[in-house]
Amino acid sequence: MKTPEDFLKERGFIAAAEIDRDALISTFMSEMEKGLAGKPSSLPMIPSYIGVDGKVPQGAKAAVLDAGGTNFRSGIVTIPPAVEDRANQPMPGVKKEVGVDDFYSALAEEVRRVKPLATVEKIGFCFSYPADATADLDAKLIRWTKGIKAPGIVGQFVGKELLSRLGGGKIAIVNDTVATLLAAKATEGDKEYSSYLGFILGTGTNTAYVERNSNILKLSGLDPAGKMIINAESGSFDKIARSKFDLAMDAKTQTPGSNPFEKMISGAYLGPIGLEIFKAAAKEGFFSKQAAGRLSGLATPTLETIDLDNFVAGFKKPDRTNPLDVIFADATDAKIARRLALPVFERAAVLTAVHLAAFVIKTGEGVSASSPVAINADGSTYYKTKAVPFADLVRRELDDILVKRRNIHYEITPQVEDAPMVGAGIAAML
Ligand code: GLC
Repeated sequence: MKTPEDFLKERGFIAAAEIDRDALISTFMSEMEKGLAGKPSSLPMIPSYIGVDGKVPQGAKAAVLDAGGTNFRSGIVTIPPAVEDRANQPMPGVKKEVGVDDFYSALAEEVRRVKPLATVEKIGFCFSYPADATADLDAKLIRWTKGIKAPGIVGQFVGKELLSRLGGGKIAIVNDTVATLLAAKATEGDKEYSSYLGFILGTGTNTAYVERNSNILKLSGLDPAGKMIINAESGSFDKIARSKFDLAMDAKTQTPGSNPFEKMISGAYLGPIGLEIFKAAAKEGFFSKQAAGRLSGLATPTLETIDLDNFVAGFKKPDRTNPLDVIFADATDAKIARRLALPVFERAAVLTAVHLAAFVIKTGEGVSASSPVAINADGSTYYKTKAVPFADLVRRELDDILVKRRNIHYEITPQVEDAPMVGAGIAAML
């Protein structure tokens, strides 16, 4: 009889232990270089026009918006970093499609609420979707991710449109990874870091890092001695082999074919990959008749990552019925199901580490242990996954790939609370 591991392998699923780390790092680096040169690449490598040298003014207060994914938050960011006067609502366009005017009205209303409480003139706006940045820190939306339905906004300069509805003002729009990087910078105290990464692993994933201007070949006229934060949009990396399960899951998303790497590691997709594995395994006879029947009769065609994670971890959340506990009520079924799904989380952890390693290497820094490259990580998948000790696995890989084998030093900084909002506030203050 075939083992669950054989079954996964046979369908192109590369287990964590089998991932060729060095090959993947080289491919990542070459895609980065192409993206920086403006050549065709799956990594857009978007220049942020923000450096990391500015001093954050103590005592300042900035009005901040945070369009993070499915939530839309607002508040006041103060330094030392804290968030006051918060509000939170669903992101416009997440529940149902919104038109252009309704979209900006919702944003403008929050600006009107928080702006009078701020001391700095610029509004900080953390905008966690792929957008081209301009030198004056506006953002032109490339496309929506995370299921937002507001088609009229695509291609617009979000800052300019919003300000025109407010009758003027100034705004600094940054991607959440850029904001997270800035937040690490603001909370470092007297530590010495040689460079910085901002990494998000939540519903979606992405990384920002600091690049030398002389390597950003697609921009002319930059000070060659300077540096700038680059939003890599690393989730769109596509030079990676995907299994039958990844492809089947992708085909059912709202954006088939886009963001292949994100779909292998981030929270929106791990549950749905698990469901594809379970369904295919049921057809192969891995489960009892009862379990197979319940699987095919699932009322919702999707499986949330939180349920897959809790199931694999053997954790029963008191206030939540886990469909998998019902489907795999039989102990033998449950055991096989866990063996089939655990590799999804292990693979995500290793891919996370390998791609972070590629960015740390790309900074060209971290040569001495006394000034490591700081990685500020944020997001629920990174911090809350239970099926595997996610952050520990990432660290173990990075220790091996970077420290032991390349003598490159890094440090994962302590989690900065509300990093995306804090970072957007800092962008407004700088
Ligand atoms: C998606 C977005 C990206 C964002 C990431 C994390 O990949 O395209 O801009 O940084 O999610 O929220």
